This record gives sequence, C-alpha cells and structure tokens, in this order.
Amino acid sequence: MYICLCHGVTESAIRAAVTGGARTFRELSFMTGCGTQCGSCAKQAQALLEECLESPQSQKQPARD
Ligand code: FES
Repeated sequence: MYICLCHGVTESAIRAAVTGGARTFRELSFMTGCGTQCGSCAKQAQALLEECLESPQSQKQPARD
C-alpha cells in the first residue's frame, strides 16, 4: 500500500527504513522522501513509524503492497 503518493513510498519501504535505523519522522523523511513534498502523508507515515517502533515484530511481517 502506498503511504506517500508524491514519492511512491510504500508501507513496506517505511518498515524497511525503520529496520534500517529511522527513529524519527525527520530520519524517515530523509531516508525515503516521504512527507517532503505536499505533506499529506505525514500523519499516516508518523503513525506507521510509531507502530513500527512500538512493535518491532511488525517490521518482520511480509510486505503487503
Ligand atoms: Fe507524501 Fe505528498 S503524499 S509528500
């Protein structure tokens, strides 16, 4: 599923970024480009980031794009 349409960032890409070390929205944006254009994805991306950080197990789920 696409989270950021401006940059084509998927849910699995965000999970991969968290696995790769993103711990803040700023880091996530830097690594994926998510939220750096229109910003309409920011709330959903932030929620997914927090979900991944709270439940590291969810990072291991297979991609559902
Ligand atoms: Fe992510 Fe526009 S949808 S910056």
